[in-house]
Amino acid sequence: MNERKIERIQLFLVIAALSVFFSFNHFSVLNAWADQKAFTVNYPPDNKVIEYDVIGFSLRVDLKAVDLIKVNVDRREILSIVPDIEHECFSLILTPGKSKVEIIAMKNNEKVENVLMQVFRRSDLSKRYMKIPDGFKKDAFHMADTSGCAECHKLKPVEYDKKPINPKSFAAQNFDKEKIFASTSTCYSCHKKITSRPYVHGPAAVWSCLSCHETESEQMYAVLKPDTEMCYKCHVEQKEYWSGQKYAHGPVTMGRCTICHSPHSADNAFNLFKSTWLLCTNCHVEKGSGKHVLGDSFSTEGHPTRNRKDPLREGKELSCASCHEPHASNFPHLWAFDVNDLFELCRKCHYDK
Ligand code: HEC
Ligand code: HEC
Ligand code: HEC
Ligand code: HEC
Ligand code: HEC
Ligand code: HEC
Ligand code: HEC
Ligand code: HEC
Repeated sequence: MNERKIERIQLFLVIAALSVFFSFNHFSVLNAWADQKAFTVNYPPDNKVIEYDVIGFSLRVDLKAVDLIKVNVDRREILSIVPDIEHECFSLILTPGKSKVEIIAMKNNEKVENVLMQVFRRSDLSKRYMKIPDGFKKDAFHMADTSGCAECHKLKPVEYDKKPINPKSFAAQNFDKEKIFASTSTCYSCHKKITSRPYVHGPAAVWSCLSCHETESEQMYAVLKPDTEMCYKCHVEQKEYWSGQKYAHGPVTMGRCTICHSPHSADNAFNLFKSTWLLCTNCHVEKGSGKHVLGDSFSTEGHPTRNRKDPLREGKELSCASCHEPHASNFPHLWAFDVNDLFELCRKCHYDK
């Protein structure tokens, strides 16, 4: 090898090392520049993919150069923060698809600096947002160097983040959720918004995050797959009952409980991502046409499937789940009743009384 060639190889190695450094080590790179900028985004990286609705942000702010931080999502102002520490942290709740997040630093009512970034929330319940678009990627926060965060946050999981929770006795136990559990959870200081929806799943409500998230796996905080491996650890009754039924629903057969249920919290009863009718017609689009039940077999107007009272389930609205079991059943078409033909089914609501 002649000297020039060796020099070129050395130059190549230096460039390669630099590019690895710049692309992977965003913490130290950003911190090295932080002195010259009004603010830097320490987390998240641009074009990150999330599965659910919450994403956390952490900024390093030069308090002399900035007196107000505004956060816009798709041009709408969502937050306005008066920074009082060098690291300002906040969370955003995003809808499925791409969101444009703009962070604007102000001083004396003038814009000093802004950063524009994108986040993609993937969703199995939406044909448009099922696939991750080019340029976006998942990023495992807990696999990176988090020492910059550890200055203020506890990060090392403890035994207390895993508590034995039994669905059978849960309701009877008188948990004072916020007081007892949130304050002792390692996860709470950064993930508190994850339980902020009105219907909170039992183990998430008491911050037993490590009931599902593994600390021993290769990927920190991975969950067991398919979902049934994780869900049936506690929902033993359902496992036994459903597996004894003759027919099971497609997504359940595939072990995909979290296609319908949030493991953390949601806006709908049973922690469903959508109300039952919208959830079902999301995949069975044609059943939402108004022609279902009667229109399928007879040439009639169809049968109501919502906006009426369910005659058999007190206090509930008529929905797809009035006639169908979402998980498993011993009857054709996953009927929710002990019936074997259409007419027996009709009589459940129309002639029995
Ligand atoms: C200088 C101290 C400090 C550092 C360093 C710091 N944080 Fe924070 N962070 C806080 C404080 C204080 C809160 C508010 C805690 C509370 O209300 O319980 C917070 C809250 C959060 C929240 C929740 C925000 C919300 O309102 O939902 C997230 C997410 C977060 N931090 C992420 C991070 C990450 C990621 C890092 C490292 C890149 C980091 N923080 C570094 C002080 C810090
Ligand atoms: C210093 C703040 C902080 C603490 C403390 C923290 N997390 Fe996170 N975690 C984050 C941020 C930021 C992300 C990126 C996704 C987001 O913003 O929600 C994340 C992502 C995750 C993910 C997705 C996988 C990944 O690595 O990106 C899981 C699962 C998770 N955290 C679980 C936990 C659990 C369980 C605990 C408590 C034992 C915990 N976290 C404590 C900040 C924190
Ligand atoms: C019942 C099981 C279960 C419990 C309890 C649970 N999680 Fe999760 N969590 C999941 C599943 C399933 C996912 C999706 C993982 C995937 O698809 O890789 C997830 C994903 C996450 C993510 C990533 C979200 C995203 O948008 O990508 C974070 C952050 C997280 N969990 C934090 C927590 C925290 C904090 C707690 C405690 C309050 C908690 N989890 C409790 C099952 C659970
Ligand atoms: C660590 C134990 C545990 C695991 C694992 C677990 N759950 Fe639960 N689940 C509970 C508890 C406890 C309740 C609360 C029961 C209550 O409110 O009476 C609950 C309640 C529910 C409910 C609401 C039931 C109702 O009547 O409102 C649904 C739906 C649910 N879980 C689905 C799931 C799914 C889907 C998974 C897997 C992603 C899962 N669970 C994993 C413990 C668990
Ligand atoms: C197709 C969507 C869907 C899937 C997939 C699904 N569920 Fe459900 N689940 C529902 C609906 C809808 C309800 C509420 C039914 C009602 O209104 O009575 C429910 C109710 C529940 C309940 C409370 C009532 C009960 O029957 O015990 C639990 C627990 C539950 N699901 C757990 C699971 C588990 C575990 C899985 C995975 C094996 C799963 N679900 C998969 C839609 C689904
Ligand atoms: C994530 C997509 C998805 C959602 C959400 C969903 N389903 Fe399904 N459903 C399927 C798949 C996949 C099959 C199996 C394919 C087939 O047999 O056509 C199926 C089959 C069915 C069947 C036919 C069973 C048979 O043997 O004829 C019924 C009835 C049904 N679903 C009702 C519902 C109801 C009620 C809901 C709402 C609680 C719902 N589905 C939500 C995907 C979904
Ligand atoms: C009043 C009772 C009732 C309600 C409410 C109802 N269904 Fe059905 N469903 C039936 C009957 C009866 C059949 C069988 C139809 C047949 O054999 O022609 C059926 C069959 C199905 C099938 C399987 C057959 C096929 O064509 O693929 C699916 C899927 C289905 N329903 C989904 C839904 C969804 C989604 C909703 C809510 C929008 C819903 N159903 C509401 C009674 C009902
Ligand atoms: C889970 C209960 C339930 C089942 C099962 C059921 N229905 Fe209905 N049905 C209703 C309700 C609720 C209404 C609305 C009544 C009202 O508006 O007062 C209705 C209305 C009707 C109507 C009047 C149409 C209209 O728009 O008001 C007809 C006809 C009808 N059902 C026929 C049937 C037939 C045929 C079957 C069997 C294939 C059947 N129903 C099964 C609950 C049910």
